[in-house]
Amino acid sequence: MLQSKIFTFASLISIGIIQNAPSAAASRAGGASRLWNASALKDWATPLAGLKLAPSFVSESDYYAAPVDNLRTYPVYHPDREPRGYRESLIKLGALPLIEPDKLISKADWIAAGKRVFEALDTPGSRTNDPSVIAHFTDAKTVDKYRDVSHDVMSADGVLLDYRWVVDRDRSLKLSFSSCAGCHSRLMPDGSVLAGAPSNYDLSDSPAVNLMLKQIRVAPKLNKGGRFYAEFGVPWVAGDAHLKFKTMTDAELDNFNSQDDGAPPGTMFARFNGSPLFETRMADLRGVRDRKYLDATATHANRGPEDIARYGILVEYADEAVFGNYQMLPGDAMKVPVRPPDEAMVAMAMYIYSLDPAPSPHPFDENAKRGKEIFESKGCHKCHAPPIYTNNKLVAVDGFEPPADDAATAGLNISERRVHTDAGLALQTRKGTGYYKIPSLRGLWYRGLYGHSGFVTSLEDWFDRRRLQNDYVPSGWRGPGVKSRAVPGHEFGLDLSAEDKKALISFLMTL
Ligand code: HEC
Ligand code: HEC
Repeated sequence: MLQSKIFTFASLISIGIIQNAPSAAASRAGGASRLWNASALKDWATPLAGLKLAPSFVSESDYYAAPVDNLRTYPVYHPDREPRGYRESLIKLGALPLIEPDKLISKADWIAAGKRVFEALDTPGSRTNDPSVIAHFTDAKTVDKYRDVSHDVMSADGVLLDYRWVVDRDRSLKLSFSSCAGCHSRLMPDGSVLAGAPSNYDLSDSPAVNLMLKQIRVAPKLNKGGRFYAEFGVPWVAGDAHLKFKTMTDAELDNFNSQDDGAPPGTMFARFNGSPLFETRMADLRGVRDRKYLDATATHANRGPEDIARYGILVEYADEAVFGNYQMLPGDAMKVPVRPPDEAMVAMAMYIYSLDPAPSPHPFDENAKRGKEIFESKGCHKCHAPPIYTNNKLVAVDGFEPPADDAATAGLNISERRVHTDAGLALQTRKGTGYYKIPSLRGLWYRGLYGHSGFVTSLEDWFDRRRLQNDYVPSGWRGPGVKSRAVPGHEFGLDLSAEDKKALISFLMTL
C-alpha cells in the first residue's frame, strides 16, 4: 500500500502535473519523491539578518519517522442551523481519509482534492471530545454569548468558521481547530467565504476554546515566560526586546496579552518565530503563484507549489526553531508528533496556486482611469509592476546592509531602492531577514489591512501624511497597549492633492 502511494506521488511529479517543481528531476534521479527532502530544503530559506544563516530544518528522516495523520473533517454548524441527524451521520461514516491519492488521475482531480484538503485540514493536537467542549457547540445560547464578545463568526450557511468536526480512529466525534483555512479565509459582507484571503474573524474566548488552546501549547512543560521566550526570543539580537518576557510573572504576561493592540479581531497573528511586539497580518494566498517570496520578510522562496506545501508543513507540523547554534525549544518539544500525507499537502498547494485574487467589484471608471495615470506618472509601477503589481524584489530596511560576501544573498532579487518603513519585524524577530518584499497590489480591495504589520485599515490612511507623526493613532495594529505611533516610510503618493489621491485610490481598488 505504502509503495503504491509513493509510486503515485512520484508519477505525479514525473508526468509534470507539478510544474516548475525544482526537485522533480532530483526526485526521479534518486527514486525518492518526498516533499521534505534535504536538497529542496537546502537553499529554501533566506538568511537571517545579524546571523547570516538561514534557520535549519527537521531532518528528512526525523520528519518521515512521524506517524501519518490522514483524517477527513467536517463543518461545525451553529446549533440552530445544524442539519437534523448531522452528527450521528458523521459517526456512522467512521474515520475516513482526508485524501485518497490512488483515485486522483488528472490535474483537475488533484486541484479538487486540494480544495477539500484546504477546507478540511485541522490541527490534530486540538482534537477533543471533552464533554464541556461538545456542550459548548451544542448550546446555541453559549455559542452566541461568546460570538458577541470575541468576533467568532458564522457564514451565510450557518457554519462556524475556525472549527471542524472529526471522527477519530476510535470512531469518537471530536471537535478541532481548522488549520490553514482558519487564518486564510475571509468572511465577505454577503456571508460567503473567500478561500485564501486573509481572515477577519477569531476563535471564541470561551472556556471550551481555551481548553483546546491549552492542548496545543508550544513547549507545555515550560512556565509562561519560558514559553513566550521559546516562541519569540531572538538571542542573537543585542538588546533583544523579547528577553523581558522570560522573567515576567504569569499575571504580568496575562496583563500584557490582554492589552488592546488596535487591530480588528482575527486579522493579525503573533506567529511562532514572529513577535507580539512586531506582529504580522494574515497573508493573502490568492495570487501567490506569481510571487517569488513568502512572508512579509521573504523568509522562504516560492519556487513552485511544492514550496507552498513545505511552508504548510513547516508552520503547522515541523518547526524545530534551530538557528545556527541557538536552539529555542526544549528537546522534548522538538519532536514532530504527526505529519500529514505528502499528497494532501501537494494537492492543497496546487489548489492554492489555482486561486487568483478575487475580481474587484469596483468599476474601472473615469476616476480610476485618471488614477492609473497618476500611478504611472508617480513611478509606482517601477516597484508595483503590472500585471501582478509587484516586481518581486526585496527592499532592505534601514539599519541593514545586504552582506556582499554571501552566496545566499547573491541569489536574492534585491531592489536598489529603500522605502524606510518600520524595521522592527525585519531586524528584531526570528523572521527578520533584513528585507520586506514589495507586495502585490492585486486584491487590495478585500485585504483590509495595509503595511507589513497591518498598521492601517484603509488606503485613505495609507496615503495620509499625518501617519508620519508620532502622535498619529493608526486605525490598524499599533502594538499591545500602544496608544499612538508613527507609521513611517513609503512616502510615495503622500504629496498628491486630495483629488489625485482619491483617483489613485479608486484605481488601486480595482486591482
Ligand atoms: C494561525 C494562523 C495561520 C494558520 C493556521 C496558517 N497560516 Fe499561513 N500565514 C499566517 C500569517 C500570519 C502569515 C504571514 C506571515 C508573515 O508575513 O510573516 C501566513 C503566511 C502564509 C504563506 C505566505 C504567503 C505570502 O504570500 O507571503 C503561505 C504560503 C501560507 N501562510 C500557507 C499556509 C498553509 C498552507 C497553512 C496550513 C498548513 C497555513 N498557512 C496556516 C497565518 C496562518
Ligand atoms: C521603491 C519601491 C516602491 C515604490 C516606488 C512604491 N512602492 Fe508601494 N510598497 C513598496 C514596499 C516595499 C511596500 C511594503 C512596505 C512595508 O510593508 O513595509 C509597499 C506597500 C504598498 C502598499 C500597501 C500594500 C500592502 O499590501 O500593505 C500600497 C497600497 C502601495 N505600496 C502603493 C504604492 C503606490 C500607489 C505607489 C506610488 C505612489 C508606490 N506604492 C510606490 C515599494 C514601493
